[in-house]
Amino acid sequence: MSAASARPVTITACPDGPLLVRGELALYDDDGEPVQPNRRTVALCRCGASAIRPFCDGSHKLVGFRTGPPPRTPAVTFDEP
Ligand code: FES
Repeated sequence: MSAASARPVTITACPDGPLLVRGELALYDDDGEPVQPNRRTVALCRCGASAIRPFCDGSHKLVGFRTGPPPRTPAVTFDEP
């Protein structure tokens, strides 16, 4: 992979599901060994129920994983000088 062909990595949180990671990335297991995702888009488990962690295997549906509404972002205000 050359720097010119590298795509920026994006991470999308799926409601009630995995994190979808797209782009050129390096992924390592708990022992620091590289994991080959063998695909352009990787679904990473965030429910903890997958049998093939760190990847999602769809178990989030079986366990009823819910992410809830997104956190509210506090409004940013600036004091007048
Ligand atoms: S998020 Fe899909 S199995 Fe955990």
